[in-house]
Amino acid sequence: MENYLTRRGFVRTAAAGSAALTWLGTRRAPTVFAAGADKPALLGGTPVHKGGWPKWPDWRESWEPEIVDVLRSGRWCCAGGGGQVADFEAAWAKLLGAKRCMATTSGSTALIISMHVMGVDAGDEVITSPFTFIATYNTILTLKALPVFADTDPATLTMDPASIESRITERTRAIMPVHIYGLPCDMDPINAIAKKHKLAVVEDACQAWLGEYKGRKCGTLGDLGCFSFQNSKHIPAGEGGAVTGNSDELLDRCQAYHNCGRSFGTFKGSGYFSHGTNYRMMHYAAALLRQEIDKLVSDTKRRQENADHLTAGLKEIPGIQPVRLPENSRAVWHLYAFRYDADQFHGLSRGKFIRALRAEGVPASGGYHEQYNDGLLDEAINSRGFKRLFTAERLKAYRDSFQELKGNKQVCETTVGVFHTLLLADRSDMDHIIEAIRKIHAHSAALAT
Ligand SMILES: Cc1ncc(COP(=O)(O)O)c(C=O)c1O
Repeated sequence: MENYLTRRGFVRTAAAGSAALTWLGTRRAPTVFAAGADKPALLGGTPVHKGGWPKWPDWRESWEPEIVDVLRSGRWCCAGGGGQVADFEAAWAKLLGAKRCMATTSGSTALIISMHVMGVDAGDEVITSPFTFIATYNTILTLKALPVFADTDPATLTMDPASIESRITERTRAIMPVHIYGLPCDMDPINAIAKKHKLAVVEDACQAWLGEYKGRKCGTLGDLGCFSFQNSKHIPAGEGGAVTGNSDELLDRCQAYHNCGRSFGTFKGSGYFSHGTNYRMMHYAAALLRQEIDKLVSDTKRRQENADHLTAGLKEIPGIQPVRLPENSRAVWHLYAFRYDADQFHGLSRGKFIRALRAEGVPASGGYHEQYNDGLLDEAINSRGFKRLFTAERLKAYRDSFQELKGNKQVCETTVGVFHTLLLADRSDMDHIIEAIRKIHAHSAALAT
């Protein structure tokens, strides 16, 4: 089924097109282009993009029979193994080049299982990125462990490896790098630090399906990798998740834990049942996910090509800083994000820049904010449990340490992004995004007043 919204073709005049091309080839402000540019839509001009954007999720009618088959089989859950869930697990592992995969109910539960299996326990500390969806913080808190934040590198938007070691204490048990927006973290130094300090590495790859770091897929770079298949994700099942890894021993333990603690494979645990819970995926979700794999591969290629085109255009606009990727890496762009420097836009605030962009027909938003100031972590550290598990000095030092996250503050204040669905549109639509930002830049003095 073709679910794209109808998009009205954008008719560009030859004059505007050549002016835009001329400008793209230069480094400085678009004086020629600016003189001929339309008024910004926010000031009453015509929006650059007048059509819609691809909608999400997007499915195929041909996927429906297998889902109906699950319904008619009466075998809807995966207790006992086999069936659609096992088929999806095998396909996902193969796609990623991982030895094993285990499907779960969500990305959050994949992270909880992985940390549990890697020995994260009440009173431990896990070093992670503050620039992430709140689920990352919450999964660590669920285990009654403390999420300790490494700083964010403003150039990459991911965990700055240089900020990790100073955060390690005798309680630190694991590092959880987050490949946010599908941007691969710089895993070599992270893994080296983990090895040196004997720490586990659990990758939060919940936004990084098929992201690549030095030729290997995100989710296969640490001890265990975790994915989310929630509705907004590039391969959605409504809800769902997966753990991937290369160790049979670890994956057997994951299997046991997510299946109410039933012993599995090499993991005999403490008898038939060990400590565990139910985080099993349903066969419906697996049937959908397995059939979505080919589409994920082709969509990823399209997003990457369009993102490359956007980067080439946007990097020429003063005040727009595309993200830097680690060497020999490929992002998959859950959000196409860049950093915005208001000084280069006559002081136009990021909020108003985003409003101006939306008025041009480009739905944009800011990135994550400084969520550690929101109260969630105060709620945790003021709880009875955390007060029992950590000393008052440690909890105070922990709270104070949020002030040190200077890179993250900068990232939170200056990031702008567009959702991955925009990258599934046509190449000419990417030109609209570039043109809209160029137009805002050209008129930033008027917009800023
Ligand atoms: C970075 C990150 N981590 C964890 C999660 C949790 O995944 P789920 O919503 O499937 O529980 C998400 C989901 O949005 C995420 O984006």
